[in-house]
Amino acid sequence: MDALENIKSRQSYRAFKPDPLPREVIQEIIEAAGNSPTYMSTQPWEMAVVTGKRRDQLSEKLLELAKNNAPFSPDVPPPSSWPAELDQRKNDHGARRLKTIGVEREDEEGREALRLLNFEFYGAPCVIFLYMDGSLGEWSIFDMGLFTQTLLLAAHARGIGSVIQASVTHYAKEIKDFLNISGDKKLLVSIPMGYPAPEAVLNTYRSIKKKPEEFTTWYG
Ligand SMILES: Cc1cc2nc3c(=O)[nH]c(=O)nc-3n(C[C@H](O)[C@H](O)[C@H](O)COP(=O)(O)O)c2cc1C
Repeated sequence: MDALENIKSRQSYRAFKPDPLPREVIQEIIEAAGNSPTYMSTQPWEMAVVTGKRRDQLSEKLLELAKNNAPFSPDVPPPSSWPAELDQRKNDHGARRLKTIGVEREDEEGREALRLLNFEFYGAPCVIFLYMDGSLGEWSIFDMGLFTQTLLLAAHARGIGSVIQASVTHYAKEIKDFLNISGDKKLLVSIPMGYPAPEAVLNTYRSIKKKPEEFTTWYG
């Protein structure tokens, strides 16, 4: 696939076939992500690739925490508020997503079931956790973002679907304990990966993107 086509056709997937991903394909996409640009070649990224029994055990643990509304311990706390325009977009996204998959806004049980799917990694057979040294700051988070997008695009080029998750890493302490990752590390996101389930309604949602003229100023 042409690189631009690959970029334009990427989307988040939230339902997967159970088929495991071949290890050599995971390795191939990780190697591609390692080619991302980075601040003075510092390459802050570290990752855990979790599959099989360990994936199932971790999902079970997280699901239990989430069901009991256990207090969060995120390494990167979510913003407490957003500028009005972004807040609007965020709310529209939430409402449109519910509508697409047929969950009513008032249906609290349906919304809770949807939230909990995050902790089942949306059924993906493989989940990647991205982290970096805890002493690092904003420029390294910038680098981690570049790495993440390259990873997603490389996966997409091999027919592998993915979704970035911040909701899961709200339980950073518990995840790091489970994976024996040092408490000094900053856990950023989890990324479930797998072959997309073709018929799943959860995969039919498309986010609305800003048009270039809404965010571009030309000079000269
Ligand atoms: C930092 C970050 C955190 C996200 N966290 C979640 C999450 O916890 N659960 C989820 O289902 N999607 C999550 N997403 C996916 C976004 O909802 C999705 O990327 C956005 O709606 C745009 O849709 P698209 O990826 O299909 O273009 C996250 C994305 C990013 C970049």
